[in-house]
Parts: sequence; C-alpha cells; structure tokens
Amino acid sequence: MKNMFKLFALLISATLLFSACEGPMGPAGADGADGADGKDGKDANETCKLCHNPTVVDQKVVEFSFSKHKYGEAAFEEAGNAGCSPCHESEAFKYVCKNNVPATFTLNATTGKYANDYAATTSIAYGILSCFTCHSSLHKTYAGTEFFPLTTTAAVPMTMWKAAKTINLTQGGGTSNLCVKCHQPRPLTTSTTLSDGNVVDYASFVTNPTANFYDSSVGNAAPNKVLPSYRMHVHYGTVGAIYAGQGGVEFTGTQTYANSTHTTAAACGDCHMSPITGRAGGHTFVAKGNFTGCNVTGCHTSPITSASTTLWKTPRAEIQTLLNNLAAKINSIGGGTNILHSDADAESNLWVGLTTGNFDGYLDIYDPSSNPAGKWKNPGNTSSWTNDQKAINTALPTFPTLKNVVAGSMINFQMTLREYSLGIHNYKYTKALLQNSIDALTTAGI
Ligand code: HEC
Ligand code: HEC
Ligand code: HEC
Ligand code: HEC
Ligand code: HEC
Repeated sequence: MKNMFKLFALLISATLLFSACEGPMGPAGADGADGADGKDGKDANETCKLCHNPTVVDQKVVEFSFSKHKYGEAAFEEAGNAGCSPCHESEAFKYVCKNNVPATFTLNATTGKYANDYAATTSIAYGILSCFTCHSSLHKTYAGTEFFPLTTTAAVPMTMWKAAKTINLTQGGGTSNLCVKCHQPRPLTTSTTLSDGNVVDYASFVTNPTANFYDSSVGNAAPNKVLPSYRMHVHYGTVGAIYAGQGGVEFTGTQTYANSTHTTAAACGDCHMSPITGRAGGHTFVAKGNFTGCNVTGCHTSPITSASTTLWKTPRAEIQTLLNNLAAKINSIGGGTNILHSDADAESNLWVGLTTGNFDGYLDIYDPSSNPAGKWKNPGNTSSWTNDQKAINTALPTFPTLKNVVAGSMINFQMTLREYSLGIHNYKYTKALLQNSIDALTTAGI
C-alpha cells in the first residue's frame, strides 16, 4: 500500500510539474517536446487505472474480504510447514505450480520409508492467499490484461492417490483445475514406525473387504500398518474429487458409478463466482444461498430456487439419508458406542447439520489436545502425555478392529460429507459411493 501511495504521489507531482511548466511556457514550439514527456507519464498512469479503479481491483478486494481464502486462519496456522503449504500458503502454491512438483511418493532406499513429494520448501512456505495467488501474472508488465493467464489451469494429479489418478476439468478454460489443485483430498498414509509410510492401498479395501485393516488385539504393533486416531482422514478439501467423480473407494454394489452433468458442463466459478447475491458470489467464492449460477442461459431453464424440489430438496434429502445410514452402519461396529465423532458446534464443525448425528468425519478416539472427551482408548504411543491423560485413556474401552470394508467406507463417508453440498456437486457419483459402501458393509455382515 505504502509503495502505491508513493508511486501515485510521484505520478501526481509529475503531472503537477508538467502543468506548472505548461502554464508559463505557452509558445507552440516548446509545447511539442513537453507533449512527448506528458504522453509517457499518461500511459503508465492509464494502465494502472485499468485495474486500480472502483469497479475492478477495488471492487474485487471488497468481495474477497468475505472469502475464507482471505479471512480464514489456516494460512497463518500452517505457515512454515512445507507439506501443508502447497494449499495453504500463497508463495508455496505458486512454487508447486511453477515447478510442477509431482504428487508422487518416493522410497528412500536407506531408511526404507516413503516420503510425500508434494511439498514446497520451508523457505517459501508462507504468504496468506491473495489476488496474486491465483493471478500470478499480475504486475509483470503492468498491462491491464494480467489477471490472465491464471496461476494454473493444468490437469491435477491427485495427491491422495500419489498421482495414480488425475483430475482434468477442461470446461470453462480449465479454471476449475485451479480450484481442484487445492480443493482435493490428501493421502491416508501408513505409519512410519509400524510400516513404510506409503499411501494406504485403497484398492485392497475393495478386493479384500473382510481382511483386517486394523486388528485391535494386536494394537500398536505390526502387522497393523495404521493406528486409528481422531484424525485418521483424507483431509477437508474433498470437493474436487467428488466433483470430478474420481478418487473414492469404489466398492461394487447396486449402483453404477457415473457423473452428473455438472462434472463436464459447469466450472466451479459458474456457481461459486456468479453475480453477487447477498454475501455470496463473485470473489467471495461462496455458493451458499446463491442460485444465480444455476439459472444462467445454457444451464437450467426452469429456474432453481431454494424451494425447488426435483433439483434441490429431493436429491439433497436423499443424499442426507444415505449419509445417515452409512454413519449408522459404521457406528454399529462400536456395539452401542459411536466410533464417529459428533460435534454440534457450528464454529468447529464445518459440516454441522448435514447429518442427524452432526458427524464431522473424525473418529471419537481420545486425544488430550484435539479430542479430550473422546470415548475410545487411543491405541497409539502415549509416552509424551501426563499421568492424568494416560489414566483417562487407560480407563476407556478398546477401539474395535476395523475391517478393510469399514476403513474404505469411512473414507467415502468423509469424502461425501465434506463435499458440503449434499450431492449438488455430483449427485450420481455421491449416491453411488454412499449406496455401494452401505451394500459392501451389508455383504460383509455389518
Ligand atoms: C492487471 C491489473 C493491474 C494493473 C495493470 C496494475 N495493478 Fe497494481 N495491483 C493489482 C492487484 C489485483 C493488486 C492487489 C490488490 C489488493 O490485494 O489489495 C495490486 C496491488 C498494487 C499495489 C499494492 C502493493 C502490492 O503489490 O500488493 C501497488 C502499490 C500497485 N498495485 C501499484 C500499481 C501501479 C503503480 C500500477 C501501474 C504502473 C499497477 N499497480 C498496475 C492489479 C493491477
Ligand atoms: C491456493 C489454494 C486454493 C485455491 C487455488 C483455491 N482455494 Fe478455496 N480454499 C483454500 C483453503 C486453504 C481454504 C480454507 C481457508 C481457511 O480456512 O483458512 C479455502 C476455502 C474455500 C471456500 C470456503 C469454504 C468454507 O468452509 O466456507 C470456498 C467456497 C472455496 N475455497 C472455493 C474455491 C474456489 C471456487 C476456487 C477456484 C476458483 C478455490 N477455492 C481456489 C485453498 C484454495
Ligand atoms: C492438497 C491441499 C492441502 C494440503 C496439502 C493441506 N490442506 Fe489443509 N485444507 C485444504 C483445503 C482446500 C481446506 C479447506 C476445505 C474447505 O473448507 O472446503 C483445508 C482446510 C484446513 C483446515 C481447516 C480450516 C478451517 O476452516 O477450519 C486446517 C486446520 C488445515 N487445512 C490444516 C492443514 C494442515 C495442518 C496441513 C498439513 C499437515 C494441511 N492442511 C495440508 C487443503 C490442503
Ligand atoms: C482463489 C483464486 C482467486 C483469487 C484469490 C482471486 N481471483 Fe480473481 N479470478 C479467479 C478466477 C478463477 C477468475 C476467472 C473467472 C472466470 O473466468 O469465470 C478470476 C477473474 C478475475 C477478474 C476478471 C473477471 C471478473 O470477474 O471481472 C478480475 C478483475 C479479478 N479476478 C480480480 C481479482 C482480484 C483483485 C483479486 C484479489 C482481491 C482476485 N481476483 C483474487 C480466481 C481468483
Ligand atoms: C452446480 C453448482 C456448483 C458448482 C459447479 C460447484 N459448486 Fe461448490 N457448492 C455448491 C453448492 C450448492 C454448495 C453448498 C451450498 C450450501 O451449503 O447451501 C457448495 C459448497 C461448496 C463448498 C463449501 C462452502 C460453501 O460455499 O458452501 C466448497 C468449498 C465448494 N463448494 C467448492 C467447490 C469447488 C472447488 C468446485 C469445483 C470443483 C465447486 N464447488 C463447484 C454448488 C456448486
């Protein structure tokens, strides 16, 4: 800001200087030379004004202040972490885009452990999300057109699948790939102490559903590869995967995997950046409460509103019922005590109200800092805890054995709950993941 003021002050004083010169000079000959100088100054000033005016930058900045990209706290919280920063820090995001950092995992031959290659470096793992995050061409030549190209529109290799699957939403010039680069799930990895830290073999959930993923009688020892914990999850940004209809654990069941028209016909921005209504739309990136995007030419011809049944209430109610039913199946292995964590607080649970149980996709396992009221004993290493914390944990019941089919269904539950829209993003894929998970659990006797 300070620099801008300085620069503007300079331009203004330059203008004043010219007009001060012009006054006394008068005669035509001298005017010619001054004219050339004046023209240069005017051009530079004009290109700034193409953007720095109330309807372009100023307007977007106001909208953006209502975007969680701007006011969310994660950028401050995760700064400095090379692994988190590709999605949470502006400089790191630009780094992984520019250097095409792969989403693969690499085995370290010396340690025998895998490392996630999708990381920035600690020297650039900072920077809150801003205009420059998505519009990285800005201020390169100071031409008025630099909002484009966007930082990336390239196909997105999925980090959850260590690049074995790729999302490519080409509609709308590929702008959705920009969003999906961050709004994608993260990998569930095996323990580096009990196993090799590689990504969990999701395919085995489908091919070997009744094998044990976690055996409670073995607990914190091999052959268990993953210890269940409060945060045994695929992170929060699951929308990209659901939207693209890719990356869920695809059990065989009564439903065929397919995608809704949105997957190929609509871009994220069509609904999330449509004309402002209330506190949604434009550069707030909020879709909630804004139906203008649904009803533009080429999309839905009979207008959709929050009161519409066929294309809003009915499919959402159906997905909600499936989420509730899947949660009940998963919880049933607790023999009367839910294994899924509930949280009725809208501040901490981003998915509050989406299920009857207010589940958030976490497991209700004791953790002194993240889940002090946890109902199940933490099977992990407790050596860093106080004696009181250890005593609380010891008194809790042993977390049950998880079969592959339950672990895979939990991932699907997290992915379909945390896409927020109760199926609006991709109704067909969401329904198939949920119903087929329920079917697979039933087949396994759960
Ligand atoms: C293509 C559009 C565009 C052009 C042309 C442009 N700017 Fe910017 N500028 C922006 C945007 C967007 C921001 C970020 C606004 C914000 O986040 O508050 C910005 C921010 C700034 C800032 C604040 C510091 C910073 O870098 O964040 C200054 C100073 C500035 N511009 C000066 C200029 C000057 C002087 C010119 C002309 C020589 C110019 N800009 C031309 C889009 C543009
Ligand atoms: C650089 C990574 C990145 C990109 C690119 C990105 N997002 Fe985000 N987005 C995030 C993060 C991180 C958050 C959460 C911020 C926080 O909580 O501090 C978020 C939050 C949001 C939210 C608010 C969610 C809520 O809980 O209310 C919406 C909506 C959203 N993004 C939509 C989009 C859309 C649409 C695009 C593409 C035009 C996009 N994002 C591009 C990283 C990104
Ligand atoms: C592949 C991209 C990606 C990576 C890597 C990533 N996150 Fe996120 N994270 C997101 C997105 C996207 C959101 C916002 C999801 C939403 O609200 O829809 C998010 C949300 C969060 C939130 C919740 C913010 C809120 O609004 O409550 C926290 C906390 C968080 N991430 C922490 C981390 C930590 C810690 C790491 C590293 C261990 C990490 N993230 C790595 C994409 C990522
Ligand atoms: C999360 C990514 C993201 C961030 C952050 C972002 N933009 Fe954008 N912006 C986009 C996308 C995507 C488009 C293209 C929309 C389209 O073509 O449908 C766009 C388009 C634009 C446009 C041209 C089209 C229009 O909507 O008028 C302007 C101007 C613009 N952005 C300004 C800004 C400014 C100023 C900021 C910071 C306050 C900003 N953007 C922050 C993603 C972003
Ligand atoms: C067809 C319209 C549509 C498209 C296209 C769309 N969304 Fe959404 N999105 C929604 C609706 C509807 C909600 C739920 C709003 C509510 O809770 O009422 C939502 C919710 C979200 C949320 C939670 C925050 C919020 O605004 O409620 C995020 C984050 C999000 N979408 C990201 C994306 C991303 C990333 C894409 C592209 C891959 C995308 N969406 C494409 C309609 C859409």
